[in-house]
Amino acid sequence: MSVADVGSGAVAMPGVLVILGASGDLTKRLLMPALYNLACDGLLPDDFAVIGMARRELSSEEFRAQQRQDMARFNTRRTFDEATWAWLERRLHYTAGEFGDPQAYERLGRLLGEVAGGTAAADNTLFYLAISPEFFQTVNDLLDQTGFTRRPGRRRLIVEKPFGKDLASAIELNRALLARWSEEEIYRIDHYLGKETVQNLLAFRLANGMFAPLWNSRHIDHIQISATETVGVETRGDYYDKTGVVRDMLQNHLMQMLAFVCMEPPASLDPGVVRDEKSRLLAAVRRFDPAAVEQDCVRGQYGPGRRADGSPAVGYREEPAVDPASNACTYAAVKLHIDNDRWQGTPVYLRSGKALWKRGTEIVVQFRPEPGLGAEPNRLIFHIQPFQGVEIRMQSKRPGPTFALQRTGMKFDYADTFEASRGTGYEVLLYSALNGDPTLFSRTDFVEDSWRIFQPVLDHWRDTRGDFPNYMAGSWGPREADALLARDGRHWHECINREVLLRSDFFREAPPVLLNTLALDFQPLAAAAGQVIVARGDHRCDLFVVCRGELEAIGADGARLGTIGEGDCFGEMALLHDRPRSATVRAVSPCDLLVLEGATYRRILDDYPDAEAALRRIADARRGGTVTRAPDGTVPAG
Ligand code: BG6
Repeated sequence: MSVADVGSGAVAMPGVLVILGASGDLTKRLLMPALYNLACDGLLPDDFAVIGMARRELSSEEFRAQQRQDMARFNTRRTFDEATWAWLERRLHYTAGEFGDPQAYERLGRLLGEVAGGTAAADNTLFYLAISPEFFQTVNDLLDQTGFTRRPGRRRLIVEKPFGKDLASAIELNRALLARWSEEEIYRIDHYLGKETVQNLLAFRLANGMFAPLWNSRHIDHIQISATETVGVETRGDYYDKTGVVRDMLQNHLMQMLAFVCMEPPASLDPGVVRDEKSRLLAAVRRFDPAAVEQDCVRGQYGPGRRADGSPAVGYREEPAVDPASNACTYAAVKLHIDNDRWQGTPVYLRSGKALWKRGTEIVVQFRPEPGLGAEPNRLIFHIQPFQGVEIRMQSKRPGPTFALQRTGMKFDYADTFEASRGTGYEVLLYSALNGDPTLFSRTDFVEDSWRIFQPVLDHWRDTRGDFPNYMAGSWGPREADALLARDGRHWHECINREVLLRSDFFREAPPVLLNTLALDFQPLAAAAGQVIVARGDHRCDLFVVCRGELEAIGADGARLGTIGEGDCFGEMALLHDRPRSATVRAVSPCDLLVLEGATYRRILDDYPDAEAALRRIADARRGGTVTRAPDGTVPAG
C-alpha cells in the first residue's frame, strides 16, 4: 500500500501501537484525537490496540479515563461519538515503567502478549518514541536488549523531531538506530508531511500536467517559502533557547516543502522513488560558506512589541527560561541556490519566524514577467495554513471601453471544495505507519542532507553575535530580510487576506467583494523611524493603513498636526478631494504599513461607490477627532 491509497477508505493493517511516553502532551493533544478520527472514518482494524508506557503509575482503567477526559479538550470534530470512543477505549492499555529499567520492558512484553497474542495484531508492532530526545538512546538500547527488535512479524520505530541538534548528533543518532533497526523500520516524523496542503504539493505537481512544462528556471523567476507565526516562544523558552528557528523550522519543515516543490517529478509514488527524488534535490542545494552566510542569510530576534490582539508583548530575552543575553534566532531568512539543470538561476528564498505580524505558511512561485504589456508577473501561491488552498494571481482586462489591466486571482479554497478538514495531521502518519508506508517519513539521507545545508549557517551564527533584538514583536520581521530580496530587485510577497485587513477599523464595514479586491492590491511597506511617507504638496494619492508603529502629521509651518497610530489610515483625502497632500506624514517609530497605489485606489472608488461613501464617513469621523488625534481638528495627511 502506498500513500496514494491513504483516504481511499481501506482499513489499516492490524497492529499494536506502543506509545513510549504516553502520559505526555503529544498523546493527548495529537495521537489520541488522530486515532479517534481514524476510528470515526472506519480506518482502524478490529485487531488493533494501543499500549501506553510512561513513568507515571497508572492502571489501564485510569489511563483510559484520563484519555477520555483529555479528548473533551482535544477532539478536533464538532461532535463526540460515544460508541466510536468506546470502541477505541476498549483497545487502550497501559503499563508503568522507567525508560532505563529492563523490567519495565519485560512487563511491556507480557502485556503485548496478553493484548495481541494469537491475533493478527501481533504481527505488526509500532514503537512510538513520544519522549524527550535525551531518552532516545536508552530506549533504543533497551528495546534491543529486551528482544523487541527481534520480535516476530513487522516492527517499526517511530521517532519524533528533533532529530539531532546538528549534523554530528544526527549522524550519531542514525548510526545508533540503524545498529538496531533497518532503514525500512525507522519512521522519522515531520508533522508538516501530515498536512493535507503539503501532501497536495505532490498531487499538484503530479496530477496537473499543464504546469509541468513551466516548472523550471526558464519560466520561474524565483520561489518564496514562508512560515510565519504570531506566537512567541510561550512556555518553551528553555527548549527554544538551545534550538532557534533554523533547527526548529528551516532544517525540517521548510526543507520538506522545498523538496516537494522542487524535486524532479518522481516516476511513481513508490516510497523509495519519492524519497530518492527528495534526497537528490537536497544534495543539489548549494552549500553555504561563511561568506555566503553573510551575504545570503539574515537572522533576527524579537524585541518588545505588540501581539496580534494589540496587547503588549515582551521581547524574546525577557521570555521565561531564556538567557537575558541570548544569541538565539527567532527569525531567519535565507536564499538558496539549487545547482541542477531545472533550477539553475532560480533562487529559493525561505523565511520563518516567531512573534510576527501574521500567521501564515505560504509558498509563492513567481513566474518570469511576460514582455509586451508590462504586466506584473504571474504568481502561483500554495496556501498551506491557516487559509488552505491554491491561488493563481494574474492580470485580466478590466471591463470597459479601454484596454486596461487589473490584478485578479483564481482561487481553489479547501473550505469550499471539501468538508472542512477535521484532522490533527497525525491521522495519515499513523495510518501510513500501520500500513508500512514510509513515503511521508524522513529517510536517513534526507535528514543528514538537510543538516548539511544548515550546519554552516548554525556554525557561523554561533561564532558571531547577532545585533539583537532587531525586530519588534508583532512586526514583519527584520528589515535586513527585505534588503535580502531588494538586492535582487525582488520583494517578499505578503499574502494579505481579509482577516488581516479586518484588523484595521478602516475596513470593518467594507463589503466582502471589496475586501477581496483590496487584499489583492494592498502591498506592505516597512518604514524606518524618521522616514517621510508622504510629503506635503505631493500629487501622489496612495492610501496607507498603519499596521504597527506611530506616525506624525506635520503642517506647513513644521508644527505637528497630530499622530496616526495602529489601525488608522491616512492619505484617503487627497483623492477624495482631488488635491495635493495637505500635510507631511513621517514615521515616529519603525512602522509597518499597507499601501494601495493611487491608480488602484481611484479604480476601486469608481467600482465601489459604497466604498467611497464609507471612506467619506471615516474621514468625517476623523475630522471629529475620533480617528487621528489632530489637536486643531484639521485633516492631517489627506
Ligand atoms: C514545531 C515547532 O515543530 O512546529 C514549533 O517546534 C512551531 O516551534 C510548530 O510552532 C509549527 O507548526 P504548525 O503546524 O503550527 O505550523
